[in-house]
Amino acid sequence: MHHLLTGKQIILGVTGSIAAVKAPMIARELMRAGATVTTALTGSAQRFATPLAFSALTHEEVITSVLPREGSKKDSGTWHIRLGRSASAMLIAPCSATTIGKLRAGIYDNPVTLLASALPRETPLVLAPAMDEEMWLQPMVQENLEVLRRSGVYVIDPTSGLLASGLIGQGRMLEPEALVIRFQQILERASEHLPLFGKTVLITGGPTFEAIDPVRFIGNRSSGKMAAALAEVAERLGANVVLIMGPSPIRTNGNKRRIDIETADEMMAAVFNEIEDADIIIMNAAVSDFSAAHESKTKLKKRDISDENGKLKIELQNTPDILREIAKIKRPDQRVIGFALETGNSAESYAESKLLEKDLDMIVLNRADEIGAGFGVDTNKVTIFQRAGTKIELPLMSKEDSAREIFASIMRLP
Ligand code: CTP
Repeated sequence: MHHLLTGKQIILGVTGSIAAVKAPMIARELMRAGATVTTALTGSAQRFATPLAFSALTHEEVITSVLPREGSKKDSGTWHIRLGRSASAMLIAPCSATTIGKLRAGIYDNPVTLLASALPRETPLVLAPAMDEEMWLQPMVQENLEVLRRSGVYVIDPTSGLLASGLIGQGRMLEPEALVIRFQQILERASEHLPLFGKTVLITGGPTFEAIDPVRFIGNRSSGKMAAALAEVAERLGANVVLIMGPSPIRTNGNKRRIDIETADEMMAAVFNEIEDADIIIMNAAVSDFSAAHESKTKLKKRDISDENGKLKIELQNTPDILREIAKIKRPDQRVIGFALETGNSAESYAESKLLEKDLDMIVLNRADEIGAGFGVDTNKVTIFQRAGTKIELPLMSKEDSAREIFASIMRLP
């Protein structure tokens, strides 16, 4: 149970209730379960627990205002969208009666409710109400919670116990350790409703490097960013993810299984090892098309490979076309998606012919000659072609958003 939050980014929202004094311990429990914790506090929460306590414990951002953060040029007005999108889930603990009312009514006037409003639909929002029994039993509070529950919000009900008023009754938030265990159970259950729950997605990414000799190789400029974005989105949609990655500096986290390889041959072997269990196979890797026909075990000397005119000769051979090999063995229930990196006027027709030649269900065309698309950058501009003839042309967007659109198309495949 304790590893369920490994690599997950959790937003902890803290609102004005005496139980906020326990919130730093909730942050600590979340971290013990493997999470990275970003905290947001309302103004009244800050009277009970200081932002400093959270930043000292979590070493992450602590948000105390809805206003753009000073000095942050990157996303000054849209920090809540960025954080909301990168979160695996949000826990509001303690959640005051006022916050419950604001969430129900859509009043996003503090950092906690604003972040809750910016969570993508599939990202779980969990509330842990804490208040005196009189307040807890108010019909309005109960009705607000009912409406929130119906719209997909999860609630960790308070228990009975000694309350801040000195009275004994219902309204006491669970202790941090029990609360975080309950939170993890909710996330586990929520994942079963995700669209790719129980599916295995196999993704290849990055370049491949083909050695010429111990120091030189043939490769390409693929960064692995698009594959990392695809893997991230697949995991958020509930899939088991296997990422087979060529040499790439990009780090990935979460529960993805990552297999690092170097050459096209190694990538093919890894794909074939994993293919049996895969429901969806996405060949995003920029597999090197050539390798040296004879890899030299010692460093080649220029004089040994140049002729009298100063021309160098290294014999090359084709690497295996992994997608073509996949097409030969794939089962009818498996969906295979390819990528095509093309330039010039015939880009679309090249992509469409690869779709047919490699017997794919879908191909994603990347234009290498458009600004902001292709290798190394954070954005992409893709056109999706499905076997059934559907064509979807997407505008320039972040690689993560492109990945979301690509999965939306995959989920619409027959
Ligand atoms: N691909 C592959 N194995 C290779 C080369 C490419 O599996 N040896 C896959 C890529 O991962 C991609 C698709 O095939 O999903 C198209 O790759 P691309 O390099 O655009 O096409 P090629 O078939 O190599 O054709 P060309 O280079 O002639 O355009």
